[in-house]
Amino acid sequence: MPEPLSINLKVNDKPVSVRTEPARSLLEVLREDLQLTGTKYGCGEGACGACSVLVDGKKTFSCSMSIEEMNGKSIMTIEGLARGETLHPAQQAFLEAEAFQCGYCTPGLIIGTVALLNRKPKPNDDEIKDALNGHLCRCCGYARICGAVRKAGELSTT
Ligand code: FES
Ligand code: FES
Repeated sequence: MPEPLSINLKVNDKPVSVRTEPARSLLEVLREDLQLTGTKYGCGEGACGACSVLVDGKKTFSCSMSIEEMNGKSIMTIEGLARGETLHPAQQAFLEAEAFQCGYCTPGLIIGTVALLNRKPKPNDDEIKDALNGHLCRCCGYARICGAVRKAGELSTT
């Protein structure tokens, strides 16, 4: 068993230090050590998108990254998007478009939307589909999900 290491990173703009076995996944540490349970475990093998977070602004499947690789990085989870009582435009858009049923895939999809809008503030439909490729929704609300991403683009530029 490898020795525990101290890993220093930023999570939702706050410096965090965790002492942990280095091969544990970022997802595990977020949920179990930092109690940030908005990021979901779906497949555990990079195939569903439920565990998406931003790592230095880039969408990343947290189930597939070891915590050791996160030393010095800046992580944004779904809990870090709102500013006080004001939701991020992507969160607001998913609410307004009613783009969820059980909601299990929603945090990952919202993070995927934020990553897309950071690159493309007004994405077209092909760019939306491309960005959300790899996110699975078992409730099959894909039309509404695409509508929510379009709306997020509108809200974030108004
Ligand atoms: S839980 Fe990470 S991609 Fe499915
Ligand atoms: S809303 Fe249920 S998995 Fe997407």
